[in-house]
Amino acid sequence: MLRRAGLVSKASLRNVPSNTTFRRFASTKTLKETLQDIIPAKQEQLKRLKAEHGQTVVGDVKVENIVGGMRGLKAMLWDASVLDPDEGIRFHGLTIPDCQASLPSAPGGKEMTAESMLWLLLTGQVPSEAQTRVLSRELAEKGDLPPFVRKLIDSLPKSLHPMTQLGIGVAALNHDSAFQAAYEKGMKKTEYWTHALDDCIDLVAKLPAIAARIYRNVYHPNNQLPAINKDLDLVGNYSAMLGYGGNHNLTEYLRLYIAIHGDHEGGNASAHTAHLVGSTLSDPYISYAAALYALAGPLHGLANQEVLRWQLAMQKEIGDNVTYDKIREYIWKTLKSGQVIPGYGHGVLRNPDPRFMALQQFCDAQPELNSSPIIQMVKKTSEVAPDVLKEHGKTKNPYPNVDATSGCVLYHYGLTEFKYYTVIFGVSRALGCVTQLVWARALGLPLERPKSYSIDALQKLAKKDL
Ligand SMILES: CC(C)(COP(=O)(O)OP(=O)(O)OC[C@H]1O[C@@H](n2cnc3c(N)ncnc32)[C@H](O)[C@@H]1OP(=O)(O)O)[C@@H](O)C(=O)NCCC(=O)NCCS
Repeated sequence: MLRRAGLVSKASLRNVPSNTTFRRFASTKTLKETLQDIIPAKQEQLKRLKAEHGQTVVGDVKVENIVGGMRGLKAMLWDASVLDPDEGIRFHGLTIPDCQASLPSAPGGKEMTAESMLWLLLTGQVPSEAQTRVLSRELAEKGDLPPFVRKLIDSLPKSLHPMTQLGIGVAALNHDSAFQAAYEKGMKKTEYWTHALDDCIDLVAKLPAIAARIYRNVYHPNNQLPAINKDLDLVGNYSAMLGYGGNHNLTEYLRLYIAIHGDHEGGNASAHTAHLVGSTLSDPYISYAAALYALAGPLHGLANQEVLRWQLAMQKEIGDNVTYDKIREYIWKTLKSGQVIPGYGHGVLRNPDPRFMALQQFCDAQPELNSSPIIQMVKKTSEVAPDVLKEHGKTKNPYPNVDATSGCVLYHYGLTEFKYYTVIFGVSRALGCVTQLVWARALGLPLERPKSYSIDALQKLAKKDL
């Protein structure tokens, strides 16, 4: 009942930091109007922070940070989400269960929608159902692709990786970029964010049509793509265009997956790439296209396809009689061959990923998933792998991350083309990346330009220290 009314139980908010902006809006303001209200105070807050505390030291930079992929370096501004190494992600202070309890779902569904997550990320506020529906309609109305983008995607070879195709389709949308057009006309810096927002909303709206077209072209060339239904939410339309609109549980799974994958603070490779490229005042489309190619790497977004490949190989080798001992043996075999265990470990997290737990809970609640051999194997693997990885002694985090299970659920529901899985992640990650692109322009953040060191220079510095 609370959930239907868009309110949140106190119990579910017990752990929300007291400084979190978190209330239901009674108004029916649009997303842009809501942002217009919020932005001046944030601009003022940042101005004062710079003026009064610009010289405050936040941390040390060690040689190990510089040669270690900048791990642990606190050097980015990112408001929408924070990743705690132990408890995992919070979106503007809200945990995944908080979001599940408070963010509006689609009509007939229970899982939060992508647009309600987008609203939370952008504004720090929980939208009302009415606001979510208005945003859903706006996205549906903007969802159709320009004819030249359709033609472009249709001209790509089927053998080209779906992620490469996604990046091409997204980059091509910048043909109609409002931000770029306004920049060329000489817009004022204070206007950057509104044009960036227009592009960002348009990009989020069009991603499902690009992603579904790639899926159709590569795997089901004889299928007709349905027209976008103006009464459906973003993921409802995406699922329908993929050909799974009749599968309520898969559509709900996609809603959950896309919402909770939307943002994972700023330093992950895709988010950081969008932020870096956006800081050059490239428009949101090409900034996000760049991010998609970071997402396409096996240590980042491609891991979900790797997990499935690995779990299926395990299933093939072990056969039907799956025991913990056999799984343990298979994990050791993988490690001894010098490979990583996909779906385990994380650059920041040091505990099981709450996104993994949310997807597991979804599986536990669906009898058909509970009894699925591949899902059972994933679950058993997650019970065995941490001890093996601890004994192996290398990874700082022996626990499952979200990718340990995400692809296997899609596989169970018949979406078996695992080279495609990262594309779904790409539809999701836009939520966080566009949020940061809008805010970076609203706050007037400068061109990102860290200083680099050579090995010799670091060695000289280290000698001076002795
Ligand atoms: C996610 C990942 C890239 C993080 O990398 P990282 O921050 O460098 O991780 P760590 O600091 O724990 O790595 C320390 C060592 O443990 C190893 N390690 C990390 N995760 C491992 C895993 N899942 N299986 C085996 N070894 C692993 C690393 O390869 C590294 O070995 P090295 O010292 O020989 O180079 C890494 O854990 C990984 O490759 N996981 C598998 C892929 C995956 O699931 N990616 C999705 C992430 S959401």
